[in-house]
Amino acid sequence: MMGGEGFETRAIHAGQPPDPQTGAVMVPIYQTSTFAQEGVGHHKGYEYARTGNPTRTALEDCLASLETAAFGFCFASGMAAEDAILRLLAAGDHVIIPTDAYGGTWRLVDKVHAPAGLAYTAADLTSLDNLAAAWRPETKMVWIETPSNPLLSIVDIAAVAFYAAERGARTVVDNTFATPYLQQPLVLGADIVVHSTTKYLGGHSDVVGGFVGVRNDALAERLGFLQNAAGAVPGPMDCFLTMRGLKTLAVRMDRHCANAAAVVEFLVAHPAVKSVLWPGLPDQPGHDIARKQMRDFGGMVSFTVHGGADAAAALVAKTEIITLAESLGGVESLIEVPALMTHLSVAGSTNEVDPGLVRLSVGIETVDDLIEDLRQALDTTAR
Ligand SMILES: Cc1ncc(COP(=O)(O)O)c(C=O)c1O
Repeated sequence: MMGGEGFETRAIHAGQPPDPQTGAVMVPIYQTSTFAQEGVGHHKGYEYARTGNPTRTALEDCLASLETAAFGFCFASGMAAEDAILRLLAAGDHVIIPTDAYGGTWRLVDKVHAPAGLAYTAADLTSLDNLAAAWRPETKMVWIETPSNPLLSIVDIAAVAFYAAERGARTVVDNTFATPYLQQPLVLGADIVVHSTTKYLGGHSDVVGGFVGVRNDALAERLGFLQNAAGAVPGPMDCFLTMRGLKTLAVRMDRHCANAAAVVEFLVAHPAVKSVLWPGLPDQPGHDIARKQMRDFGGMVSFTVHGGADAAAALVAKTEIITLAESLGGVESLIEVPALMTHLSVAGSTNEVDPGLVRLSVGIETVDDLIEDLRQALDTTAR
């Protein structure tokens, strides 16, 4: 694959030449746990499927290409990918995470890695002053999520990565909400990019997975070791499904963004809606940074309604086309109340979410149908 080829071309072809044996245009699902060897140590590059599987390699190469990474590693879930990254740190090291990190990220740090000796501080990384205040001599990693889940706040990746690099720390960016089509953290100076491929990359709500991309050789060697040693790898069928979804990432994202813009315009004007969070709104705090580091503003929208938590819970039960469910990034629109669903694990913590907040993953259905569905639900919601 030529390095200069366009994003859409690489999404379809990178790591996926036609099968040399049969000409199959789609990478086969190598549903095997082991690979025959001609003699001890003489094999075709694959020995055992935890260590490597050709279907997984194809996906890893494709995602690495899209993120401009030199090395890519796929995991069984986004959380498994995050866990491998946190294992790069040792007991006594300090990591700074955002106050509005995905609830599962906070839980993994607070309930799994902190008890094993990792120190952490949650800080609002939308301001470099807060980053500086949270910094310690033993800070080895800064974790960014932008746009964040569920507040859609925007962090200046280049500025944080520069600050961290000057002090010898690594910057990680969870790029799940933006995808490499809208934002490329490694180009902006981050060291590690991580995804829940379960979301926009897979794109069809039919598979769970994770990805880590890096440019640095030493980081890659350690991540490859952890992937094999801890063994949280995806199966070949999951890799195939993710790769299949990835081929249409660019066209899906364009439509997600356009539909979200139209839905936001409707929500802002509706009297039952109190506030709308979307980086594309010019009055949003991170709007200018989002313009600078993103191609477009994404398909995730959060909002509050007058009437608080009860009204929010009533609203999400009333939509018909828009499905009440956890997760996001699929072709279908999903709606939820983060405080009671995806972010229940952060209740009472520094990362607690307003119980009146509604999160909407705007799908690629006919946008007028989505707006009509929201209208009927909002019109009967307490003002
Ligand atoms: C921003 C973000 N990061 C990571 C994850 C975890 O990914 P997974 O559910 O694939 O383990 C999620 C899941 O919702 C997420 O939204």
